[in-house]
Amino acid sequence: MSHYASDSTVKALTVNDLAAMKQRNEKITCLTAYDASFSVLIDKAGIDMMLVGDSLGMVVQGHDTTLPVTINDMVYHARCVSNARRRAFVIADLPFMSYTTPVVAAQNAARLMQIGGAQMVKLEGPRFEIVSFLAGQGIPVCGHLGLLPQMINQLGGYKVQGKEPADAARIIADARQLQEAGAGMLVLECVPAALAKEISGQLSIPVIGIGAGVDCDGQVLVLYDMLDIGIIKRPRFSRNFMLDAESIEAAIHAYHKAVKLLQFPSSEHSF
Ligand code: KIV
Repeated sequence: MSHYASDSTVKALTVNDLAAMKQRNEKITCLTAYDASFSVLIDKAGIDMMLVGDSLGMVVQGHDTTLPVTINDMVYHARCVSNARRRAFVIADLPFMSYTTPVVAAQNAARLMQIGGAQMVKLEGPRFEIVSFLAGQGIPVCGHLGLLPQMINQLGGYKVQGKEPADAARIIADARQLQEAGAGMLVLECVPAALAKEISGQLSIPVIGIGAGVDCDGQVLVLYDMLDIGIIKRPRFSRNFMLDAESIEAAIHAYHKAVKLLQFPSSEHSF
């Protein structure tokens, strides 16, 4: 454990702290993180959560999709991030095909928590049985609905989800059922802002948006997109926070402040 991480004056955030933030209408800030150096910068800037996302398959490993990412990759990067964090809540993605059955999911989630140091695991789609089983084992779970990058070959492209009334109704029903199954948080990716607002209002758990409008309980962006250092074109819903910043630290601070003050995302970053 690093010297930075062992600072005992800083209290690590818990699921209860994040739930309380939703209760008092304080926006939750989150950025993806994949290594210890960025973990320190993000944590020092006061960002509430770090997501060790399987987006690392694209921005760190250079793949076209997140599909090649393995559970070993995720455990390694989660460990790097956790080693250096002291306050931010750490969530790690279960990658493609690592939650095919409840037992497989539990074994892989346990590795993310025991070796990777994650406090919560995230999985994509309406996988109620898996969520219920993990929650029953004491594993905090974050659901992920809307655009599901692990399903890209079925979806046929990175498109906004839930535009048709029937699709929107299905996403609302899935969100409610994930909460009932025991999910402690939900990520909504690339859905209309009005739909995300409806879901955030209906659920008691924090709803974190990415391309989902300003009315979610919190926001997450891929770090490399908002620092404009990605090898992939920045999506429309993201913003280059380096444009008006003198340093990476300043850009992360600006993102944190903009989310807390409801200045990001604006309508130009929403659908
Ligand atoms: O992998 C990731 O970075 C994610 C975010 C896009 C939410 O899941």
